[in-house]
Amino acid sequence: MIGSLRERQLRRVISACLLTVFCLAGPLQARNLDSLVAHSLEFSEGQLARTVTLINDTTRYPYRTRNDTLWIANRPGSWVSGWFPGCLWQMYDHTLDDTWRRRAESWTAGLEDSKDNTNTHDVGFIIFCSFGNGYRLTGREEYREVIIQAANSLATRYHPRVGCMRSWNKHLFPVIIDNMMNLEILFWAARNGGDSDLYDMALSHALRTSRDHIREDGGTYQIVDYDTTTGEYISRFTKQGSDAESTWARGQAWGLYGFTMAYRETGDSRLLEAAMRLADYFIDHLPGDCVPYWDFQAPDIPDEEKDVSASAIAASGLLELCTLVPAAVTAEKYRSAACSILASLCSPAYLAEGTNSIGILLHGIQNHNEDKGIDVSLIYADYYFIEALLRYRDMIMSTNAFGDPPYLFPASIRLFQNYPNPFNPETNIWYWLSDAVVVNLSLYDITGRWIQPLEEGYRDPGHHLFRFDSGRLAAGVYVVVLEANDTRRARRITLVR
Ligand code: GLY
Repeated sequence: MIGSLRERQLRRVISACLLTVFCLAGPLQARNLDSLVAHSLEFSEGQLARTVTLINDTTRYPYRTRNDTLWIANRPGSWVSGWFPGCLWQMYDHTLDDTWRRRAESWTAGLEDSKDNTNTHDVGFIIFCSFGNGYRLTGREEYREVIIQAANSLATRYHPRVGCMRSWNKHLFPVIIDNMMNLEILFWAARNGGDSDLYDMALSHALRTSRDHIREDGGTYQIVDYDTTTGEYISRFTKQGSDAESTWARGQAWGLYGFTMAYRETGDSRLLEAAMRLADYFIDHLPGDCVPYWDFQAPDIPDEEKDVSASAIAASGLLELCTLVPAAVTAEKYRSAACSILASLCSPAYLAEGTNSIGILLHGIQNHNEDKGIDVSLIYADYYFIEALLRYRDMIMSTNAFGDPPYLFPASIRLFQNYPNPFNPETNIWYWLSDAVVVNLSLYDITGRWIQPLEEGYRDPGHHLFRFDSGRLAAGVYVVVLEANDTRRARRITLVR
């Protein structure tokens, strides 16, 4: 067990001091975080392997721990059921070990029926974290079809007068900030063989949420309830926050991540502005150890519980946001906030190492108002933590060998990940340019040694796809570097034979 609230507070104070020392360490910081991230990935692999053995039933899906020890598991189709297979796919991405692929396939298969679920926006979480990751890593046609069908199911919840998907089947027409996350499956489906209306619905939902859910100060409402006759909202309130006018920490993180993703998918500057306002609020309201209380205005702060899931989701979102914002100084703010959060999550105050929890992160809150899942491990905290670790690995850790200046900023060019999967000998590199420039795309090994040129020449602004046959290269980890106008971007790619 983790001990009393006072003991936990003491651990956090010690952790915050260690974190401050860590953050002040300057040049050592990157290397220290590299090793913390590597260690946390190793620990995550061990915890997931233990979970697979203990659960030993592919029809049961871990949700949260009971008294900080063993998982409570739900049936297929429960709103949380996509994250465990998602964790298994991410571990396959990390290790490229077929054992993880087989495990991921087994737990993913049990969720196929959910593609027809029209009863909740959570169909996005369920299918995109399981089948979505599965498609990304295997390119299997049957997975793509399941994702498209799930997107169509979610789209049945769209109301044209409101311009949003209905999140829950209660109240009048509630739209929750969490729902921003589930627009990703619609954007993806529209790009991968689904109906183009899916894109329009997702964009409309995101813009409406940016107008109605965000307060002047950048904090958010969890729930906005609409009248479908007029299309106007009639009330704004919360289910999981402490007060209608307070900001529920996980909701803020869902919004930060969701608006970032929606900007990545649309390029609409109103969505970037929303993402930045939420990110600024989140960062500016963090306590010293970079993990928020379950609500930013919870009444008894500092004698309140923390919610680690909010920080895990935010860290992953910030690692993407820092690659999208145009100003280098803002990008650096988000990158360094993400790194400080990750350093805290990888520390003994939050990593479950040395405790008897079967989860990866400690100190999550499921629903404080209903006294459910207080101070436990949560499968979605673990999922976004692993995602953040992998984003750090792909964008930052693998380019540290290149020395200064950092290879990430500013965002006048963007380099997207290797797609569709590391097993495809035809490797696709996506990039985006804000201006017409001469670009130089090259391949390096993980130590920073130049391997070969990829392409060079004058390019117009906008999106570009470069394809090359990587079949002649040895299996391994490489770094693609894109240079234009003194700006460089780098991204790790993995090639498998
Ligand atoms: N989407 C519900 C929650 O975050 O608890």
